[in-house]
Amino acid sequence: MAVESIYDPTFVKNLFNEMARTYGVVNLISSFGFAALWRKQCARIITIPCDSRVLDLMTGMGELCAVLSPSLGKQGRIIGVDLSSEMCARARQQLVRHRCTVEILEADALASSLASESADVIVSSFGLKTFSPDQINRLAEEVARLLKPGGVFSFLEISVPPNRFLRWPYLNYIRHVIPTIGRVFLGNPENYRMLGIYTERFGHCGGAARALEQAGLHVQQDSYFFGCATGVSGRKPA
Ligand SMILES: C[S@@+](CC[C@H](N)C(=O)[O-])C[C@H]1O[C@@H](n2cnc3c(N)ncnc32)[C@H](O)[C@@H]1O
Repeated sequence: MAVESIYDPTFVKNLFNEMARTYGVVNLISSFGFAALWRKQCARIITIPCDSRVLDLMTGMGELCAVLSPSLGKQGRIIGVDLSSEMCARARQQLVRHRCTVEILEADALASSLASESADVIVSSFGLKTFSPDQINRLAEEVARLLKPGGVFSFLEISVPPNRFLRWPYLNYIRHVIPTIGRVFLGNPENYRMLGIYTERFGHCGGAARALEQAGLHVQQDSYFFGCATGVSGRKPA
């Protein structure tokens, strides 16, 4: 398969449509619960006033919406955006559990109809790796467009740790063990192998940080558990 085609939105959409049934449990077990912890840390890095308009890009099943909604008041609002209809359907099933208004929008984050300067906060967990470097640049432009002046953002993604003693077992784990866990939970192991390929190609959030900075945002890079996940957070100048 040509490298460019793995970043084609239709390919990514089909991948997650197929994985939606098993993604939640495989993600929880294969990350030993770290994924849930990192989402909370990703949200805590930024200050989110309780009446914020929040965008959760690549929301999946709304995992970050669930983290954020208890701290938002009745005036708060979250829009979760995702390309995959199956992921969106599962996110909508969770809506009754949220305290603030949560809406799920099925759309490509690179081509959404969302209004400019409509978000106080933009967050995203584990949604960057399926973007090519060129798409990351476009996403950064989109984040800069959607944020209000003074608005804040925090992105998190699984990454390849820099320490070589950690890197070897880690790569073995994502190449071989995670697809096996996927199979155990009746998912297609090839889909979970694809996630490993995306992760290795993505590396870490350094490229996204540069792209967001070039788009005019103030950025800081974040590291979670020795770089097994990295993040980029910051603010749009007021
Ligand atoms: C690995 S899942 C992460 C889901 C969730 N945010 C979490 O914390 O587990 C990545 C999600 O990004 C979505 N996605 C990938 N490319 C997208 C795009 N261009 N626009 C919107 N969603 C996209 C996929 O459909 C998938 O649901």
